[in-house]
Amino acid sequence: MINSSMIAIIDFGSQYTKLIARRIREKNVYSEIFSYKTDIEILKNPKIKAIILSGGPSSVYNNKSPKINWILKEINKPILGICYGMQLIIQQWGGKIDSKGNGEYGLAKVSIKNESQIFKNLKKETDVWMSHGDQVFKLNTDWNKIALSDNNIIAGIQHKNLPIYGLQFHPEVNHTIEGETILDNFLFNISNCEKKWTSENFIDKSIIKIRNKVKKNHVLCAISGGVDSAVVAVLLHKAIGNQLSCVFIDHGFLRNNEVAEVLSSLKNGIGININVYDYSNIFLKKITNINDPEQKRKIIGEQFIRAFEEISEKVGNYKFLAQGTLYPDIIESGGIEDGVSDTIKSHHNVGGLPDNIKFELIEPVKDLFKDEVRKVGKELNIPNFILNRHPFPGPGLAIRILGKINKRKINILKSADEIFIKILRETNEYEKIWQAFCVLIPSKTVGVMGDARTYENIIALRAVTSLDGMTADWYKMPYDILNKVSSEIINNVNGVNRVVYDITTKPPGTIEWE
Ligand code: XMP
Repeated sequence: MINSSMIAIIDFGSQYTKLIARRIREKNVYSEIFSYKTDIEILKNPKIKAIILSGGPSSVYNNKSPKINWILKEINKPILGICYGMQLIIQQWGGKIDSKGNGEYGLAKVSIKNESQIFKNLKKETDVWMSHGDQVFKLNTDWNKIALSDNNIIAGIQHKNLPIYGLQFHPEVNHTIEGETILDNFLFNISNCEKKWTSENFIDKSIIKIRNKVKKNHVLCAISGGVDSAVVAVLLHKAIGNQLSCVFIDHGFLRNNEVAEVLSSLKNGIGININVYDYSNIFLKKITNINDPEQKRKIIGEQFIRAFEEISEKVGNYKFLAQGTLYPDIIESGGIEDGVSDTIKSHHNVGGLPDNIKFELIEPVKDLFKDEVRKVGKELNIPNFILNRHPFPGPGLAIRILGKINKRKINILKSADEIFIKILRETNEYEKIWQAFCVLIPSKTVGVMGDARTYENIIALRAVTSLDGMTADWYKMPYDILNKVSSEIINNVNGVNRVVYDITTKPPGTIEWE
């Protein structure tokens, strides 16, 4: 738990749980997601100002559905239950939930029945986003109905004496037109939160935290060229000066010119010295026969650590290893303890870590979303070239070559990727896109070049827009640019005779292909 006052969001598996966390942080209030199994003693911590019970796909009357094992009214803090969260509240008070109706999905109109703190400044009738099968049939006498949907379903409840509220709809979703006001009311009128979650505060607190943890020891910081590890390096540099050494491991799955570009931009831009170590042969050897994406990620994760250990033994005695792990990496690697969310991918710096590590980890930005890291980076004067670089995954091109990897495939992908990114920069498209890259599909298709038949591999272009990488939309790339990229790749990259564009959103796809 971070050392800051916060809202605790209890996760019951809703696709919107992370969105609630983001919305609250955007209002300069820190929020953190907790498992539904979290003990009441942890939630009683005075740093937690209020609790939000998230939605979830289950029915409260199903024995196997996620339940808290504590009594809501004993926590003595404001509570807001959303959808499944509201139904849990009602169930604890002996009300009745049922799935007899048709449910409500999508936009609905709700009329506000009573004056209530949570609906302060709302119109009498407002559009909301519903997504529920079950509904409330009976309320215990301790409760007031404060909103009704136009299907006559209870859409909002309020306890008569305690600051506990329930909403059947989702205030965190943009379609709920006055959702922002509802969240503001809960945070600032009901829970008395202060707007203290800012980049400056984060930097000051992090520096103190790092100093307290590191003391007189030395830290090895793994630089990747992305904004996350650059921010970590600058924070550490500010906190502990020359007790820090930065290293860049070349695992051989980097893009063309990556090492040189990163070194010069970090050295010139933020004045930090970095030592490069070439481990490409070792990484390639370990991964050559591996097909399975999760196995690739784990092997690369382990190999990174072994490389750091070797460097540490040779160069100095480092007690700590610093990494640029982010909050979404932890969520998507199933890192919320006892969480209901599935492991989507083992991000190499979380789920891909081996169990036996000789270092203690320092992960100063592990509670931040990507856009928050960029804000902190701006505050730390990190140059735009690094701040606005597209994210690049730790395992690099290895997870952009489907199936087994060899040097030829790496070279094909590097050449195609270089062309794609060069054209995006030349046409000023690069900065409009969250992330763009090529994927090598080592499946052969027939083509014709000149008068000759070709039988070569496929390159898929991927370009997405996103705020934090948790959800993403495919980028509506102008046709003439797609055209240019396609013909330049096919004309210049040996081994490719077909280029396709990926039009999958996340969900249901992920951004990377493996
Ligand atoms: P996915 O593919 O999970 O990616 O939709 C979301 C974002 O995370 C990046 N990514 C990684 N970053 N180590 C990293 O440092 C990893 O193992 C990893 N896997 C995915 C991905 O590039 C995208 O920005």
